[in-house]
Amino acid sequence: MTPVLELRGASKRFLIPRPRQGPLGLFRRPPAGVLQAVEAVDLRILPGEALGLVGESGCGKSTLARVISRLTELDAGEVLLDGTPIGAVAPARFATSAGRRLVQMVFQDPTESLNPRFSVFEAIADPVRQLRAAKGTAGVRRQVERAAAQVGLPPELFPRFPHQLSGGQKARVGIARAMAVEPRLLVLDEPTSALDVSVQAVVLQLLMRLRREAGVALLFVSHDLNVVRLLCDRIAVMYLGKVVETGPSAQVFGAPRHPYTRALISAIPRLPGAPRPVREKLEGEPRSPIDPDPSACRLAGRCPFQTERCTREPPALSEIAPDQFVRCHHPLTAGPP
Ligand SMILES: Nc1ncnc2c1ncn2[C@@H]1O[C@H](COP(=O)(O)OP(=O)(O)OP(=O)(O)O)[C@@H](O)[C@H]1O
Ligand SMILES: [Mg+2]
Repeated sequence: MTPVLELRGASKRFLIPRPRQGPLGLFRRPPAGVLQAVEAVDLRILPGEALGLVGESGCGKSTLARVISRLTELDAGEVLLDGTPIGAVAPARFATSAGRRLVQMVFQDPTESLNPRFSVFEAIADPVRQLRAAKGTAGVRRQVERAAAQVGLPPELFPRFPHQLSGGQKARVGIARAMAVEPRLLVLDEPTSALDVSVQAVVLQLLMRLRREAGVALLFVSHDLNVVRLLCDRIAVMYLGKVVETGPSAQVFGAPRHPYTRALISAIPRLPGAPRPVREKLEGEPRSPIDPDPSACRLAGRCPFQTERCTREPPALSEIAPDQFVRCHHPLTAGPP
């Protein structure tokens, strides 16, 4: 089966400018460093699959999501949508291309991402028109009505503007906009973090239903591991730009093999009375993402299992259990977290 999304060695770096100092600041200065936001990431999402992307703040999740939606260009590697490299289409043409229809992004804050001057109808119709996903006025209306029904937005709301909607309704408009062009993949960057807890649950249920009924695949970026466990078949854990562990959710949650994954899982809040796993706290702060040492593991300096090898040889991602990959010289033995 052709993956709906495939990343091959995807890398994105940002040049960090040198701070301006005195009159010399007027001249061209070499960058102060290179921030490797995403480094050689390989990922696949099959049609209809849900992949959860987790990791602490600044590890590169949003950059990866932006690269897939081509809001940011890659420095190296490839992104393939339904087997076709997105690089084959010039950046200026991508915005109206067939590839753009395959993948749609849902942003974190529905209030910020909706145009205040667009009514609900216009907001949902906009991508349909831009991407020519329907013919004529009647065709556009049909697509808007279909998408609104899919997300449970009643047509009475069509004339309203964003400031006349609740948070949950705005979130539905954001998702309807994405669904209106019948994508095969939704990229959701922390789609519920700006919402009230009660609304979060409703939106998550909606996403699960869209997956089931419309067969759309999900790339779900989240801080919330409980949500990822609930929603996603597979999980990819990132640390400072690199994927350190990936595999079926049940397997990774049940038996994490990377020390960082185990630390993340052991920090999940649990219900009172539920058994607590051994708390596996990592020492210190993450390394700086600027000019990382190419010969060391990114977790070196923070890892309780570190040896001398970890500072001179970067670990590769290797298959440790069926379909579970880990980037570690000293992976944990299989066992509950
Ligand atoms: N346009 C940019 N210019 C320079 N650095 C950037 C830029 N965008 C992101 N970065 C840096 O790249 C790294 C990854 O950022 P990114 O936003 O992808 O992280 P994230 O995992 O989404 O974090 P969070 O969980 O806080 O949203 C960070 O160190 C960030 O400061
Ligand atoms: Mg982010």
